[in-house]
Amino acid sequence: MSQEDNKSKEVSNVEYGLEKIFEGAQDFLPLLGTDYVEFYVGNAKQSAHYYKTAFGFQSHAYAGLETGLKDRVSYVLKQDKIRLVLTTALTSDSPIGEHVKKHGDGVKVIALWVEDARKSFEETVKRGAKVYMEPVVEKDEQGEVVRAGIYTYGETVHMFVERKNYKGEFLPGFRKWESDYNPAPVGLKFIDHMVGNVGWNQMNDTVKWYEDVMGFVNFLTFDDKQITTEYSALMSKVMSNGNGRIKFPINEPAEGKKKSQIEEYIDFYEGAGVQHLALATDDIIKTVADLKARGVEFLPPPPQAYYDEIPTRLVVHRDMMKEDIKELQRLSILVDADEEGYLLQIFTKPVEDRPTLFYEVIQRMGAKGFGAGNFKALFESIEREQALRGTL
Ligand code: FE2
Repeated sequence: MSQEDNKSKEVSNVEYGLEKIFEGAQDFLPLLGTDYVEFYVGNAKQSAHYYKTAFGFQSHAYAGLETGLKDRVSYVLKQDKIRLVLTTALTSDSPIGEHVKKHGDGVKVIALWVEDARKSFEETVKRGAKVYMEPVVEKDEQGEVVRAGIYTYGETVHMFVERKNYKGEFLPGFRKWESDYNPAPVGLKFIDHMVGNVGWNQMNDTVKWYEDVMGFVNFLTFDDKQITTEYSALMSKVMSNGNGRIKFPINEPAEGKKKSQIEEYIDFYEGAGVQHLALATDDIIKTVADLKARGVEFLPPPPQAYYDEIPTRLVVHRDMMKEDIKELQRLSILVDADEEGYLLQIFTKPVEDRPTLFYEVIQRMGAKGFGAGNFKALFESIEREQALRGTL
Protein backbone atom coordinates (compact mmCIF):
# COMPACT_ATOMS: atom_id res chain seq x y z
CA MET A 1 0.00 0.00 0.00
CA SER A 2 1.39 3.40 -0.90
CA GLN A 3 1.29 6.58 1.13
CA GLU A 4 -1.28 7.84 -1.33
CA ASP A 5 -3.60 4.94 -0.50
CA ASN A 6 -3.26 5.79 3.17
CA LYS A 7 -4.04 9.41 2.52
CA SER A 8 -7.11 8.83 0.40
CA LYS A 9 -8.53 6.37 2.94
CA GLU A 10 -8.04 9.07 5.55
CA VAL A 11 -9.93 11.56 3.39
CA SER A 12 -12.82 9.21 2.74
CA ASN A 13 -13.17 8.63 6.47
CA VAL A 14 -13.33 12.35 7.12
CA GLU A 15 -15.90 12.61 4.35
CA TYR A 16 -18.02 10.07 6.17
CA GLY A 17 -17.79 12.32 9.23
CA LEU A 18 -18.56 9.35 11.45
CA GLU A 19 -15.95 9.94 14.16
CA LYS A 20 -18.47 11.21 16.69
CA ILE A 21 -20.79 8.25 16.26
CA PHE A 22 -17.93 5.87 16.99
CA GLU A 23 -16.59 7.48 20.14
CA GLY A 24 -17.99 4.52 22.04
CA ALA A 25 -16.18 1.97 19.90
CA GLN A 26 -13.08 0.30 21.30
CA ASP A 27 -9.72 0.64 19.60
CA PHE A 28 -8.13 -2.71 20.46
CA LEU A 29 -8.55 -3.61 16.77
CA PRO A 30 -7.55 -0.60 14.62
CA LEU A 31 -8.38 -1.39 10.98
CA LEU A 32 -6.75 0.47 8.10
CA GLY A 33 -9.21 -0.75 5.48
CA THR A 34 -10.32 -3.78 3.49
CA ASP A 35 -7.24 -5.59 2.17
CA TYR A 36 -8.85 -8.10 -0.21
CA VAL A 37 -11.91 -10.30 -0.63
CA GLU A 38 -11.27 -13.93 -1.57
CA PHE A 39 -13.88 -16.07 -3.30
CA TYR A 40 -13.78 -19.86 -3.50
CA VAL A 41 -15.12 -20.69 -6.95
CA GLY A 42 -15.52 -23.69 -9.25
CA ASN A 43 -13.35 -22.29 -12.06
CA ALA A 44 -11.18 -19.30 -11.16
CA LYS A 45 -9.86 -18.85 -14.70
CA GLN A 46 -13.36 -18.35 -16.09
CA SER A 47 -14.55 -16.25 -13.12
CA ALA A 48 -11.53 -13.97 -13.60
CA HIS A 49 -12.49 -13.51 -17.25
CA TYR A 50 -16.02 -12.53 -16.15
CA TYR A 51 -14.82 -9.96 -13.59
CA LYS A 52 -12.48 -8.43 -16.18
CA THR A 53 -14.96 -8.40 -19.05
CA ALA A 54 -18.14 -7.52 -17.18
CA PHE A 55 -16.93 -5.47 -14.17
CA GLY A 56 -13.73 -3.90 -15.55
CA PHE A 57 -11.32 -5.46 -13.05
CA GLN A 58 -7.65 -5.51 -14.07
CA SER A 59 -5.29 -8.51 -14.11
CA HIS A 60 -3.07 -8.06 -11.07
CA ALA A 61 -1.39 -11.16 -9.61
CA TYR A 62 -1.43 -14.92 -9.98
CA ALA A 63 -0.38 -18.05 -8.07
CA GLY A 64 -0.76 -21.65 -9.23
CA LEU A 65 1.16 -24.61 -10.61
CA GLU A 66 3.59 -22.25 -12.37
CA THR A 67 4.52 -20.59 -9.06
CA GLY A 68 4.93 -23.85 -7.17
CA LEU A 69 1.43 -24.40 -5.75
CA LYS A 70 0.09 -27.93 -6.05
CA ASP A 71 -3.41 -27.77 -4.59
CA ARG A 72 -4.92 -24.49 -5.76
CA VAL A 73 -4.81 -21.60 -8.17
CA SER A 74 -5.60 -17.94 -7.40
CA TYR A 75 -6.16 -14.96 -9.68
CA VAL A 76 -6.00 -11.47 -8.14
CA LEU A 77 -8.00 -8.70 -9.81
CA LYS A 78 -7.82 -5.02 -9.02
CA GLN A 79 -9.87 -1.91 -9.69
CA ASP A 80 -8.68 1.24 -7.92
CA LYS A 81 -8.59 0.15 -4.23
CA ILE A 82 -10.69 -3.00 -4.65
CA ARG A 83 -8.81 -6.31 -4.71
CA LEU A 84 -10.66 -9.56 -5.44
CA VAL A 85 -8.98 -12.98 -5.22
CA LEU A 86 -10.57 -15.91 -7.06
CA THR A 87 -9.38 -19.31 -5.88
CA THR A 88 -10.13 -22.83 -7.14
CA ALA A 89 -8.99 -26.24 -5.88
CA LEU A 90 -6.82 -28.39 -8.15
CA THR A 91 -7.56 -31.65 -6.31
CA SER A 92 -10.70 -33.42 -5.11
CA ASP A 93 -9.61 -33.63 -1.46
CA SER A 94 -9.32 -29.87 -0.95
CA PRO A 95 -11.23 -27.83 1.66
CA ILE A 96 -11.65 -25.26 -1.13
CA GLY A 97 -13.51 -27.84 -3.21
CA GLU A 98 -15.60 -28.82 -0.18
CA HIS A 99 -16.53 -25.17 0.34
CA VAL A 100 -17.63 -24.83 -3.30
CA LYS A 101 -19.55 -28.13 -3.14
CA LYS A 102 -21.54 -26.92 -0.13
CA HIS A 103 -21.98 -23.22 -0.85
CA GLY A 104 -21.43 -22.80 -4.57
CA ASP A 105 -19.18 -19.89 -5.58
CA GLY A 106 -18.96 -17.44 -2.68
CA VAL A 107 -16.87 -15.27 -0.39
CA LYS A 108 -14.53 -17.21 1.88
CA VAL A 109 -12.26 -14.43 3.20
CA ILE A 110 -12.88 -10.78 4.04
CA ALA A 111 -9.30 -9.67 4.63
CA LEU A 112 -8.69 -6.62 6.81
CA TRP A 113 -5.58 -4.46 6.53
CA VAL A 114 -3.96 -3.97 9.95
CA GLU A 115 -0.75 -2.55 11.46
CA ASP A 116 -0.16 -5.65 13.58
CA ALA A 117 -1.66 -9.00 12.54
CA ARG A 118 -0.41 -10.92 15.58
CA LYS A 119 -1.94 -8.41 17.99
CA SER A 120 -5.23 -8.34 16.02
CA PHE A 121 -5.34 -12.14 16.23
CA GLU A 122 -4.50 -12.25 19.95
CA GLU A 123 -6.99 -9.51 20.88
CA THR A 124 -9.88 -11.15 19.01
CA VAL A 125 -9.10 -14.74 20.03
CA LYS A 126 -8.82 -13.58 23.66
CA ARG A 127 -12.36 -12.20 23.28
CA GLY A 128 -13.75 -15.46 21.95
CA ALA A 129 -12.97 -15.62 18.20
CA LYS A 130 -12.65 -19.11 16.72
CA VAL A 131 -9.23 -19.64 15.14
CA TYR A 132 -9.02 -20.17 11.37
CA MET A 133 -5.28 -19.63 10.92
CA GLU A 134 -2.56 -18.96 13.52
CA PRO A 135 -0.23 -16.07 12.56
CA VAL A 136 1.95 -17.00 9.56
CA VAL A 137 4.90 -15.01 8.18
CA GLU A 138 5.24 -15.24 4.38
CA LYS A 139 8.39 -13.91 2.70
CA ASP A 140 9.88 -13.27 -0.70
CA GLU A 141 12.47 -10.85 -2.13
CA GLN A 142 9.97 -7.96 -1.66
CA GLY A 143 9.79 -8.42 2.11
CA GLU A 144 7.33 -10.15 4.41
CA VAL A 145 3.63 -10.22 5.19
CA VAL A 146 2.06 -11.51 8.39
CA ARG A 147 -1.42 -13.00 8.18
CA ALA A 148 -3.74 -14.59 10.74
CA GLY A 149 -7.41 -15.52 10.49
CA ILE A 150 -10.55 -15.96 12.60
CA TYR A 151 -14.01 -17.25 11.70
CA THR A 152 -16.99 -14.91 11.54
CA TYR A 153 -20.55 -15.99 10.51
CA GLY A 154 -20.93 -19.39 8.82
CA GLU A 155 -17.68 -20.58 7.26
CA THR A 156 -16.64 -17.02 6.38
CA VAL A 157 -13.27 -15.79 7.65
CA HIS A 158 -11.68 -12.49 8.62
CA MET A 159 -7.99 -12.53 7.74
CA PHE A 160 -5.76 -9.88 9.33
CA VAL A 161 -3.07 -8.74 6.88
CA GLU A 162 0.03 -6.83 8.03
CA ARG A 163 2.01 -5.60 5.04
CA LYS A 164 4.11 -2.72 6.43
CA ASN A 165 7.32 -4.68 5.68
CA TYR A 166 6.28 -5.65 2.17
CA LYS A 167 6.94 -3.82 -1.10
CA GLY A 168 5.43 -6.37 -3.50
CA GLU A 169 2.14 -5.99 -5.34
CA PHE A 170 0.06 -8.50 -3.41
CA LEU A 171 1.39 -11.33 -1.24
CA PRO A 172 4.59 -13.40 -1.23
CA GLY A 173 4.20 -16.38 -3.57
CA PHE A 174 2.19 -14.43 -6.13
CA ARG A 175 3.69 -13.24 -9.39
CA LYS A 176 2.53 -10.30 -11.49
CA TRP A 177 -0.25 -11.39 -13.83
CA GLU A 178 0.51 -10.08 -17.30
CA SER A 179 -2.37 -10.41 -19.74
CA ASP A 180 -2.94 -9.35 -23.33
CA TYR A 181 -6.64 -8.95 -22.58
CA ASN A 182 -7.26 -5.75 -20.61
CA PRO A 183 -10.80 -4.32 -20.80
CA ALA A 184 -11.03 -0.81 -19.34
CA PRO A 185 -12.11 -0.19 -15.73
CA VAL A 186 -15.71 1.01 -15.14
CA GLY A 187 -14.92 3.49 -12.35
CA LEU A 188 -15.39 1.25 -9.28
CA LYS A 189 -13.27 2.78 -6.50
CA PHE A 190 -13.50 1.02 -3.14
CA ILE A 191 -15.72 -1.28 -1.08
CA ASP A 192 -18.35 0.85 0.67
CA HIS A 193 -19.80 -2.01 2.75
CA MET A 194 -20.19 -5.79 2.76
CA VAL A 195 -23.38 -7.45 3.94
CA GLY A 196 -23.71 -10.78 5.74
CA ASN A 197 -26.85 -12.92 5.79
CA VAL A 198 -27.34 -15.07 8.88
CA GLY A 199 -30.10 -17.56 9.77
CA TRP A 200 -33.27 -17.18 11.83
CA ASN A 201 -32.64 -15.49 15.21
CA GLN A 202 -28.89 -15.22 14.53
CA MET A 203 -28.63 -11.47 13.90
CA ASN A 204 -28.35 -10.38 17.53
CA ASP A 205 -25.73 -13.04 18.33
CA THR A 206 -23.71 -11.95 15.29
CA VAL A 207 -24.05 -8.29 16.29
CA LYS A 208 -22.87 -9.14 19.80
CA TRP A 209 -19.92 -11.08 18.34
CA TYR A 210 -18.84 -8.01 16.33
CA GLU A 211 -19.21 -5.84 19.44
CA ASP A 212 -17.42 -8.17 21.87
CA VAL A 213 -14.77 -9.75 19.65
CA MET A 214 -14.05 -7.01 17.09
CA GLY A 215 -14.95 -3.87 19.10
CA PHE A 216 -17.48 -2.77 16.46
CA VAL A 217 -20.57 -0.64 17.18
CA ASN A 218 -24.12 -1.02 15.93
CA PHE A 219 -24.95 2.36 14.39
CA LEU A 220 -28.11 1.68 12.39
CA THR A 221 -30.96 -0.78 12.88
CA PHE A 222 -33.83 -1.65 10.56
CA ASP A 223 -36.58 -3.81 11.97
CA ASP A 224 -39.07 -5.99 10.12
CA LYS A 225 -41.66 -3.18 10.19
CA GLN A 226 -39.37 -0.91 8.18
CA ILE A 227 -38.12 -3.63 5.83
CA THR A 228 -41.31 -5.24 4.68
CA THR A 229 -43.40 -5.61 1.56
CA GLU A 230 -46.79 -7.18 1.12
CA TYR A 231 -45.08 -10.60 1.07
CA SER A 232 -41.76 -10.79 2.84
CA ALA A 233 -39.57 -9.17 5.46
CA LEU A 234 -36.08 -9.02 6.91
CA MET A 235 -34.22 -7.34 9.75
CA SER A 236 -30.85 -5.63 9.51
CA LYS A 237 -28.26 -4.08 11.83
CA VAL A 238 -25.27 -2.14 10.52
CA MET A 239 -21.98 -2.75 12.34
CA SER A 240 -18.99 -0.46 11.99
CA ASN A 241 -15.45 -0.53 13.31
CA GLY A 242 -14.11 2.30 15.47
CA ASN A 243 -12.89 4.58 12.68
CA GLY A 244 -15.90 4.00 10.40
CA ARG A 245 -13.85 2.56 7.54
CA ILE A 246 -15.34 -0.92 7.71
CA LYS A 247 -19.11 -1.39 7.63
CA PHE A 248 -20.82 -4.76 7.83
CA PRO A 249 -24.64 -4.75 7.80
CA ILE A 250 -26.00 -8.08 9.12
CA ASN A 251 -29.39 -9.37 7.89
CA GLU A 252 -31.64 -12.10 9.16
CA PRO A 253 -34.96 -13.31 7.71
CA ALA A 254 -38.25 -12.20 9.24
CA GLU A 255 -41.71 -13.79 9.05
CA GLY A 256 -43.90 -12.67 6.15
CA LYS A 257 -46.68 -14.12 4.03
CA LYS A 258 -44.05 -15.60 1.72
CA LYS A 259 -40.39 -16.57 1.88
CA SER A 260 -37.88 -13.89 2.86
CA GLN A 261 -35.08 -13.24 0.34
CA ILE A 262 -32.68 -13.87 3.24
CA GLU A 263 -34.16 -17.33 3.79
CA GLU A 264 -33.80 -18.04 0.07
CA TYR A 265 -30.12 -17.10 0.34
CA ILE A 266 -29.57 -19.26 3.44
CA ASP A 267 -31.30 -22.22 1.74
CA PHE A 268 -29.16 -22.01 -1.38
CA TYR A 269 -25.86 -21.03 0.27
CA GLU A 270 -26.58 -23.74 2.87
CA GLY A 271 -25.68 -21.43 5.72
CA ALA A 272 -24.69 -17.89 6.62
CA GLY A 273 -22.48 -15.98 4.20
CA VAL A 274 -21.78 -12.76 2.33
CA GLN A 275 -24.90 -11.48 0.56
CA HIS A 276 -23.52 -8.48 -1.31
CA LEU A 277 -20.52 -6.25 -1.80
CA ALA A 278 -21.32 -2.58 -2.32
CA LEU A 279 -18.76 -0.97 -4.63
CA ALA A 280 -18.45 2.81 -4.68
CA THR A 281 -18.19 4.97 -7.80
CA ASP A 282 -18.15 8.74 -8.21
CA ASP A 283 -20.07 8.61 -11.49
CA ILE A 284 -22.81 6.02 -11.20
CA ILE A 285 -24.46 6.94 -14.50
CA LYS A 286 -21.27 6.21 -16.45
CA THR A 287 -20.38 3.14 -14.36
CA VAL A 288 -23.83 1.56 -14.70
CA ALA A 289 -24.10 2.35 -18.42
CA ASP A 290 -20.68 0.64 -18.89
CA LEU A 291 -21.64 -2.37 -16.77
CA LYS A 292 -24.90 -2.83 -18.70
CA ALA A 293 -23.07 -2.59 -22.03
CA ARG A 294 -20.71 -5.32 -20.79
CA GLY A 295 -23.53 -7.69 -19.89
CA VAL A 296 -23.95 -7.19 -16.12
CA GLU A 297 -27.59 -7.93 -15.24
CA PHE A 298 -29.35 -5.65 -12.79
CA LEU A 299 -32.65 -6.06 -10.98
CA PRO A 300 -35.62 -4.88 -13.02
CA PRO A 301 -36.59 -1.21 -12.55
CA PRO A 302 -39.19 -0.05 -10.04
CA PRO A 303 -42.53 1.18 -11.46
CA GLN A 304 -42.92 4.63 -13.06
CA ALA A 305 -44.47 5.96 -9.83
CA TYR A 306 -41.11 5.51 -8.05
CA TYR A 307 -39.45 8.04 -10.38
CA ASP A 308 -42.48 10.37 -10.42
CA GLU A 309 -42.22 10.61 -6.61
CA ILE A 310 -38.48 11.43 -6.46
CA PRO A 311 -38.92 15.25 -6.49
CA THR A 312 -41.29 15.01 -3.49
CA ARG A 313 -39.21 12.42 -1.63
CA LEU A 314 -36.01 14.39 -2.10
CA VAL A 315 -37.46 17.79 -1.36
CA VAL A 316 -34.51 18.93 0.81
CA HIS A 317 -31.81 17.77 -1.61
CA ARG A 318 -33.57 18.31 -4.92
CA ASP A 319 -31.54 21.41 -5.71
CA MET A 320 -28.20 19.77 -5.04
CA MET A 321 -29.07 16.79 -7.22
CA LYS A 322 -27.11 17.02 -10.47
CA GLU A 323 -28.42 13.88 -12.10
CA ASP A 324 -31.31 13.92 -14.53
CA ILE A 325 -34.15 11.77 -13.15
CA LYS A 326 -34.94 10.52 -16.68
CA GLU A 327 -31.36 9.31 -17.00
CA LEU A 328 -31.58 7.53 -13.65
CA GLN A 329 -34.84 5.91 -14.71
CA ARG A 330 -33.35 4.83 -18.06
CA LEU A 331 -30.64 2.94 -16.12
CA SER A 332 -32.99 1.82 -13.25
CA ILE A 333 -30.82 3.61 -10.66
CA LEU A 334 -32.47 4.14 -7.24
CA VAL A 335 -32.24 7.33 -5.15
CA ASP A 336 -32.48 7.81 -1.39
CA ALA A 337 -31.76 10.69 0.96
CA ASP A 338 -31.06 11.42 4.60
CA GLU A 339 -30.44 14.66 6.53
CA GLU A 340 -26.95 15.05 5.11
CA GLY A 341 -27.42 14.36 1.45
CA TYR A 342 -28.55 11.76 -1.04
CA LEU A 343 -27.25 8.53 -2.49
CA LEU A 344 -27.66 6.67 -5.75
CA GLN A 345 -27.60 2.89 -5.86
CA ILE A 346 -28.42 -0.14 -7.98
CA PHE A 347 -28.29 -3.88 -7.40
CA THR A 348 -27.22 -6.66 -9.75
CA LYS A 349 -28.94 -10.01 -10.04
CA PRO A 350 -27.01 -12.83 -8.34
CA VAL A 351 -23.73 -13.39 -10.23
CA GLU A 352 -23.78 -17.18 -9.96
CA ASP A 353 -26.43 -19.84 -10.62
CA ARG A 354 -27.47 -20.20 -6.99
CA PRO A 355 -29.47 -17.10 -5.94
CA THR A 356 -26.80 -16.02 -3.45
CA LEU A 357 -24.12 -13.31 -3.88
CA PHE A 358 -24.85 -10.10 -5.77
CA TYR A 359 -23.32 -6.62 -6.08
CA GLU A 360 -24.47 -3.09 -5.31
CA VAL A 361 -23.05 -0.04 -7.06
CA ILE A 362 -23.34 3.05 -4.86
CA GLN A 363 -22.56 6.75 -5.19
CA ARG A 364 -22.81 8.76 -1.99
CA MET A 365 -23.63 12.45 -2.32
CA GLY A 366 -23.40 13.19 1.41
CA ALA A 367 -25.87 10.54 2.59
CA LYS A 368 -24.52 8.01 5.09
CA GLY A 369 -27.39 5.54 5.09
CA PHE A 370 -27.92 2.37 3.13
CA GLY A 371 -30.93 3.26 1.01
CA ALA A 372 -33.71 2.50 3.52
CA GLY A 373 -36.09 4.60 1.42
CA ASN A 374 -35.49 2.15 -1.44
CA PHE A 375 -35.98 -1.05 0.51
CA LYS A 376 -39.63 -1.45 -0.48
CA ALA A 377 -39.05 -0.86 -4.21
CA LEU A 378 -35.91 -2.99 -4.12
CA PHE A 379 -37.50 -5.92 -2.33
CA GLU A 380 -40.49 -5.88 -4.62
CA SER A 381 -38.02 -6.22 -7.51
CA ILE A 382 -36.30 -9.12 -5.74
CA GLU A 383 -39.66 -10.79 -5.06
CA ARG A 384 -40.52 -10.65 -8.76
CA GLU A 385 -37.25 -12.50 -9.40
CA GLN A 386 -37.96 -14.97 -6.57
CA ALA A 387 -41.39 -15.66 -8.07
CA LEU A 388 -39.71 -16.54 -11.39
CA ARG A 389 -37.39 -18.93 -9.52
CA GLY A 390 -40.34 -20.47 -7.65
CA THR A 391 -38.72 -19.56 -4.31
CA LEU A 392 -41.07 -16.85 -3.04
FE1 FE2 B 1 -25.92 -2.48 0.52
